[in-house]
Formats: sequence, C-alpha cells, structure tokens
Amino acid sequence: MSTFGAAVRPDFPAVANDFVFLDAPGGTQMPTVVAAKIASTGVSPISNRSRGSLPGRNADDAVLEFRAAAADLLGADPAGIVQGRSATQLTFDFSRTISKTWAAGDNIVLSQADHDCNVAPWLIAAERAGVEVRWAKLDAATSELPAAQYEDLVDARTRLVAVTAASNLVGTQPDIAAISAIAHAQNALTYVDGVHYTAHAPVDVRDMGADFFVASPYKFFGPHFGMLAASPELLETLHPDKLRPSPETVPERFELGTLPYEMLAGATAAIDYVAGLSPAGGTRRERIVAAMLAMDEYELELRDAIERGLAEIPGVTCYSRAQRRTSTLLITVAGITPLTIEARLRERGFLAQAGHFYAVEVCNALGLGEQGGVRFGLAPYNTREEVDGLLIALAEAVAEG
Ligand SMILES: Cc1ncc(COP(=O)(O)O)c(C=O)c1O
Repeated sequence: MSTFGAAVRPDFPAVANDFVFLDAPGGTQMPTVVAAKIASTGVSPISNRSRGSLPGRNADDAVLEFRAAAADLLGADPAGIVQGRSATQLTFDFSRTISKTWAAGDNIVLSQADHDCNVAPWLIAAERAGVEVRWAKLDAATSELPAAQYEDLVDARTRLVAVTAASNLVGTQPDIAAISAIAHAQNALTYVDGVHYTAHAPVDVRDMGADFFVASPYKFFGPHFGMLAASPELLETLHPDKLRPSPETVPERFELGTLPYEMLAGATAAIDYVAGLSPAGGTRRERIVAAMLAMDEYELELRDAIERGLAEIPGVTCYSRAQRRTSTLLITVAGITPLTIEARLRERGFLAQAGHFYAVEVCNALGLGEQGGVRFGLAPYNTREEVDGLLIALAEAVAEG
C-alpha cells in the first residue's frame, strides 16, 4: 500500500469533508500535528527572545529550531534563513535592499515563467535604479523556459537573474543549476522563487546555485508565512532599512519586528511531518529528501492518470507539457470559460480553481490573457479515486456545452 493517499488522509481533518481539494498550489491543508504545535506554542510561556528565562528560551528555541528545520528542508545554512510575512513581502524587501547598488548601465534578467512575486518587485526596483530589464522567454509550444537563452541575456553588467524553480501555473521546472552557472560566470546573483517547487521536489540551494531562494510553508502543510535562504556571508554584504536598536546580526537584520514564534514552531512541525513520510531512516535532511522524492513519484502517477483522462475529453487543451515539471496541470476547454468550468466542477464537489494565479507573464506567453485557465494541483492526500472522479466530473462539465 502507498504511504500516501488514503494512508495520510487521517492526518488532515480538512480532507474529511465531502469535497475534493485540487488546489494544493494555492496552499495545502494542515495536518493535526502542525495545528497542535501552533496551539501548544501559543499557550506555552513566551516572551521576547533570550536565554535567561523559560519564556525567553521558548521564543528563542522556536526561532532556532525553525531555522535548523528550514535549513534541512532546503539544504541551506541555518544562519542564512530569514523569516518574513510571505514570499512576496520578502521579495519586495530584498529587491529594495539588493538594488541599492544598481546603477544606470546595469541590467537584470526576469523570466516569463515566473509568478508576479518574482517579477513586479524587480520591475519596480529596476525602474527606480534606471537599469535595463531583459526577459527570458517561455516557449509557448513546449511551456519550457530554455536555459540556453540566458547565454545571450546575461552579460558583465547583469546584476541579478530572477527565475522560478517551478511555475505555479503549468508546473515547468527550468534548469536552475544551468541558469545559475551562466549568471555566476558573469558575477550576477540569482534570486530563485521556490514557492511552488519546494512542495514537489527535494531542494538543494547549493546544487541549484541559488544565491537567494524563497519558499512558503503553507504550500507544504505549514502555516502562512514566507522564508528565504541565502548564505550568511552574502547576507552580511546587504544592508536593509531597519530600526536603529534592532540587531545588526545576520539573519536578524532582515527580520523586521517580533517574529511569529507559534507559526515558526508550526513550520518546524510541518517540516518534521514531511520527514516523517520518508520510506527510509537517516538524518532529518536525508528523510526529507527521500520523502519528497516519494511524494513526487506518487503525485506524478496521479498527474499521469489525469493527463490520460484529459486526452479523452473533447475540446480540452493542456498547457503543462515541459519535460521536467511538477504535478500541476493547467487546461482550457474550447468554447467554455475557465470560470464556468470551475463553477461546474464545484457543483460536483471538486475544488479546482480558474484564473491566472498571478502568473500573468506565463498567461500572456501562452496566449491565455487575464482569464488564464483551470488549474489542477495535487498533494499527497489526494487519491486515485478523487482523480477518477475529477475526470468524470470534467467530462460532464464539458458535455454541458
Ligand atoms: C510560484 C509562487 N511564487 C510566489 C508565490 C507567492 O507566495 P506568498 O503567498 O508566500 O507571497 C506563490 C503563491 O502562490 C507562488 O505559487
């Protein structure tokens, strides 16, 4: 029997409802152990961080344990983990800080594969600094973001390459290691959006060559906030706006105000939950990697079943077609709007969403415009029965005309 699907559903009270969650890329449901950890931390003695008292130690431990867990999840250095309100907020903050040294004549490279989180902050920073913006193109026929194009885009005046590790709309996983190698050959920094990717594959920020990597625990069973990994040495070179008395140390320098200790404890519990899904033993890092590989394999089986079914339904176009991609699928149906399909699926108990999901550049590159498509996103608690039911519901929704 699989470790996933029916086997994990008792861990997630939310999936016991009589509708089917198909929007994991918008955020996963939360296991009881994670919610329980948030609650128990909330009612434990907590004060500002210190080692001198129990309440102070509880707060400090929540921070240090979160950084250690996040570092294990991402293959990063705990001293380079920055907590923030969301990946969006972190990217805005870092864009303002990183761009302080940009000057006219410099350029940055953005990608059409990205969520606006890794686009708009850089566009605004580029305009302020007067630097050129270059674009890596998504191939509309394959939904690939070919790495080779970066050879032509990156030059000695490139300061930053911002690119996603996986598209939240069509699942495409660009070759980040290859893109980073091109960027680093010209001393440009890479800012990698790992928000979608981190829920679907083991991350090793060093192997990827990601100078900055953002993720959001609510995409992998945790609470709603964002986190960033970078080397402490790189963080030392950056000077964000901050309060005068707040710590100059790294990573605290980047964390504005008091941290949400109970949420950090919840994220640690979510990462431990992932590690607990490993089919083998080992260190927490080893168990996380094994669990992510197993989860990915399980989700890809379900994805393939959906794809085979979609091919049988007349009028359906699927835009998820890159070689390396997550289990996330985007479709449109000829003659029926995505919102209508969403509503008809919802009537039948299937919660898939329609829209652009903030991946406006992807939508434009694929010729979908503002209305985007209907997205099916999977998590380990989805089952083969749910997938089979979705295909029947979709066929009915399409047959309504
Ligand atoms: C690929 C991707 N990047 C960034 C974000 C934004 O993340 P956050 O909600 O933490 O700002 C999302 C959210 O859906 C996403 O899917």
